[in-house]
Amino acid sequence: MIEHNEIEFLHFGIKSIDAQHQKFFGLLSELKIYNSNREDNIAKASILDEFKAYSQYHFELEKRIMTRVEYSEIDKHIAQHEIFIKKIDEFVTAYSYQSAALSEQMLLFLQKWFLVHIQEWDQNYVNFIHQRRESQA
Ligand SMILES: [Fe+2]
Ligand SMILES: [Fe+2]
Repeated sequence: MIEHNEIEFLHFGIKSIDAQHQKFFGLLSELKIYNSNREDNIAKASILDEFKAYSQYHFELEKRIMTRVEYSEIDKHIAQHEIFIKKIDEFVTAYSYQSAALSEQMLLFLQKWFLVHIQEWDQNYVNFIHQRRESQA
């Protein structure tokens, strides 16, 4: 479980990105709750749909930002996003087969991946933006 102080630690100072990252942690917590309640497959499926749609929306925004600032590592970053979307699809499949063990593993993977992605990959492009701003000031 991701604690609130970890979320605080992840603030970048880019409002829309920060708000969206927070939203992800909320969706992941909801998924975790539904994962332990194996009866409610319709609710699980709808949260997963929302999770995937929100990921695509968030990644599109990051892509626009990285394109605008001509971020040198944009291709590698986008490849990471694509891996994440594929993993969500695998998660949807695991749910549809009602494999509790598999969906548990997937959820752990998504949580870990998301935390590391924010701390390392997202932090890098945000640092790039800050450096650019400083050099242009
Ligand atoms: Fe990202
Ligand atoms: Fe992000």
